[in-house]
Amino acid sequence: MWRPAQKIKWKPQPGEWPTADEAARARLFSPLDVGPLHLRTRTWVPAMVPWRATDDGFVTQDNVDWYARFAAGRPGALVLEATGIRDIASGPLLRIGHARFIPGLRRIVDAVREASAGQTRLFIQLIDFLSIRRRPDPQKFLGRYLRLTDRHRAALAMHGASDTTVREQLQRLAPDELAQVLTPRELENLTMGERERVTDLHLPHIRALPQVLPGLFATAARHAREAGFDGIELHYAHAYTMASFLSAVNDRDDGYGRSLDGRLRLPLEVYQAVRAAVGDDCVVGCRYLADECIRGGSGVDEAAHFGLAFARAGMDFLSLSRGGKFDDAQQPDIGWAAYPYTGRSGYECMPHHVSDAQGPFGRNVQAATTIRNAIRAQGLCTPVVVAGGVHGFAQAEALLADGHADVVGFARQSLADPDWFTKVRSGHGSAVDLCIYANYCEALDEKHEEVTCKLWDRVALDEPGIRKTRDGKRRLTPRPWPPKD
Ligand SMILES: Cc1cc2nc3c(=O)[nH]c(=O)nc-3n(C[C@H](O)[C@H](O)[C@H](O)COP(=O)(O)O)c2cc1C
Repeated sequence: MWRPAQKIKWKPQPGEWPTADEAARARLFSPLDVGPLHLRTRTWVPAMVPWRATDDGFVTQDNVDWYARFAAGRPGALVLEATGIRDIASGPLLRIGHARFIPGLRRIVDAVREASAGQTRLFIQLIDFLSIRRRPDPQKFLGRYLRLTDRHRAALAMHGASDTTVREQLQRLAPDELAQVLTPRELENLTMGERERVTDLHLPHIRALPQVLPGLFATAARHAREAGFDGIELHYAHAYTMASFLSAVNDRDDGYGRSLDGRLRLPLEVYQAVRAAVGDDCVVGCRYLADECIRGGSGVDEAAHFGLAFARAGMDFLSLSRGGKFDDAQQPDIGWAAYPYTGRSGYECMPHHVSDAQGPFGRNVQAATTIRNAIRAQGLCTPVVVAGGVHGFAQAEALLADGHADVVGFARQSLADPDWFTKVRSGHGSAVDLCIYANYCEALDEKHEEVTCKLWDRVALDEPGIRKTRDGKRRLTPRPWPPKD
């Protein structure tokens, strides 16, 4: 994991907690009504993948319990984890690309309604991602998978040699010699694992993405509507397909890359297809990057341009994240896939408590302000959601009072304590279990293990009836609050 050089250790700084009266007057707990977006409070739980789906993408009881547990804390909005729009195998990630997934998703909708007494709006994050392979064993890669070309034979001065002889020679080369013989992309396939990009126009299915994706997103959105979700969050952030279209490194030459308008074209076409599928009364917004945080990537000025375009197109909210790219991900171990939260951009996405002088709290606030101001300057009132290290009431309230955002996202803090919202609102802020930003949850996500929090996952393991991780060592949800005993 990348860490800032300064390695300054930060502790949570929640500040003062409000009394129940003060909380009742707070902006944070006031409603938001803009277009079809109606929130009872301006609090938001951003999408977090908990690795609880079946291997073929269906909802499990553990998914239902997980979201019901968040809903019991009554945030204004809860966003269901990134859910795949394609009807293809993608491991234990939720899927929505076929009607057979609707009944399971409906169970989550019902559980959230019940646990929050109808107070929490439930959105679903729709994602498309491209294929990524695990980092291969070098001997197997060079001995079997690498497609031999004349270029390899020329570089090795082995014209006319058999494939077997060429492969054996490649297997004998030192890493610096291999770097001379393989193309940069082949070298990356060897050292990081093969990863498709939206710019691989030589691959027909990649070239066809602009023709295929609007329909796939629209079908998924229709399924979400049928399952009863209050709205759709299009995943245009981090390392995935739609963010890669927006990226400054997208140099597609087919009208869907290069210029700002080219990079925006597919995200807008997807939005229009989704809007047409679900109608004007359904909430549709997106999550995208206020800054890609990679060399040569798009920064806040481009993000402001995108935000304005999304707002003009009619999106109902813009949820801002930052970083989280494959471009600067660290090398995975052999047999593991690259994880887009291991480089500097990953740090910016989920900052750890070991940080720099700026610290891990509110790193996206300045960029969010620039984007929001650009949208407001054009007379548009699209709500902006900001997240990143928010855990204190005063901090959240100031984000709203000072015009940095309209809604405040608490991701890891609500994982640490889903009752943050009820506790603070009822004047029990001092009972909040504060996130320490140690990224225990993120490490579990990286290993595709059930995500839990170290503040609560080994507490009262003998409690009757609780559900546990596959290895039986951790509980899957925190204890209820107030405690029943
Ligand atoms: C375990 C875990 C899973 C996550 N999964 C998603 C996801 O599915 N979609 C997404 O947009 N962000 C995801 N994120 C990022 C969070 O939504 C959030 O942007 C990030 O943690 C920073 O906010 P925070 O400081 O409040 O945690 C995930 C974060 C964690 C810790």
